[in-house]
Amino acid sequence: SAPQYEHLIVSTPKPGVGFIQLNRPRALNALCTPLIIELNQALRQFQAEKSVGAIVLTGSSKAFAAGADIKEMKDLTFSRAYGDDFIESWSDLVTFLKKPLITAINGYALGGGCELAMMGDILYAGPKAVFGQPEIKLGIIPGAGGSQRLTKAIGKSRAMETILTGENISAKQAGEWGLVAKVFDTPDECVNGALATAEKIASYGQIAVKACKEVVNKSQELGIREGVEYERRVFHGLFGSQDQKIGMSAFAVKMKPEWKNE
Ligand code: HXC
Repeated sequence: SAPQYEHLIVSTPKPGVGFIQLNRPRALNALCTPLIIELNQALRQFQAEKSVGAIVLTGSSKAFAAGADIKEMKDLTFSRAYGDDFIESWSDLVTFLKKPLITAINGYALGGGCELAMMGDILYAGPKAVFGQPEIKLGIIPGAGGSQRLTKAIGKSRAMETILTGENISAKQAGEWGLVAKVFDTPDECVNGALATAEKIASYGQIAVKACKEVVNKSQELGIREGVEYERRVFHGLFGSQDQKIGMSAFAVKMKPEWKNE
C-alpha cells in the first residue's frame, strides 16, 4: 500500500504514470526538509516500481513551490550548513532517478522551487507560471543547481540577468526562451498534458526509454565527439534487447508492438 505523506499527495492516475503533488498549501509549497525527505522517498518508490514508466511532479495552481523554506534557513550558520552539507540531499532527488520526470509548473516556481522544476527532464508550464531565482534579495545565491541549470537552459546573459536582478520570468518568456517545452492555456491542461506525455512515454519499451534519457543527459556533460560516440555505444547495445526485435518485427508486419521491457 502507498505510504502516507504529510506534504505530498501520491497516486498512479494512468497506466504506467507515477504522480506526485506537492501539498503544503499554507506555505506555498515551500520546500522544508521534511518535504524534501518525503519527495525523495516517493521518487525512490516510483523508481523501484516496475509498473511505473514515467513520473509527473506538480504543485498547486497557485504555487509549484515558492522556494526553500526561508524560516527554516533564517538562523542557519556557515558551520552547520557546511558541516551538515545543507541542501546536498537535494542532488539525490534526481541523480538516482532513471525514469523520465516531467515537472508541471503552475504559479510560483521561485528559488529552490525553480531549481526543483528544472530538475525535470521535461518542463511544462501553465499560463500563470512564474520562474525566478530571487536569492539575491535574501543575501544568498541559488544553492540547488539554479546557476548551472538555468544557464544551460536559457544561456549566460539571460541567466545572469535573472539571477543578479532577482526578477521573475513569465510563462510566456519561459516558453520563448526554451526553459519549458510547452506553455498551456490553463493549469489543468498543463497537468493533464504532463500526465498524457508521461503515459505515452510509459507505453514504450522501458529499456529504450531509459537509454534515451541516459544519452540526452550525457550531452549536458560531454563534448560532441565523446557524446556521439557514447550514443553509438548505447545504440549498438539496444540490438541486444528483445524490444528491438519486437519493435522492428511489428513495424514490418504493420502490427502494434507488445513490449517485453527486456
Ligand atoms: C517559507 C514561505 C515561503 C518560503 C512563502 N511562504 N514562501 N515560507 N519559505 N520560501 C509562506 C509565507 O511566509 C506565508 O506564510 C505563506 O507562505 C503565503 O505567502 P505570502 O507571501 O503571504 O503570499 P503572497 O503574498 O501571495 O506572495 C507569494 C510570494 C511570496 C511572492 C511567492 O510568498 C514570496 O516572495 N516568497 C518567497 C520567495 C523566495 O524568496 N523564494 C526563494 C527562497 S530562497 P504566513 O505564515 O505568513 O501565512 C531559496 C534558496 C534555495 O529557495 C537554495 C537551495 C535550495
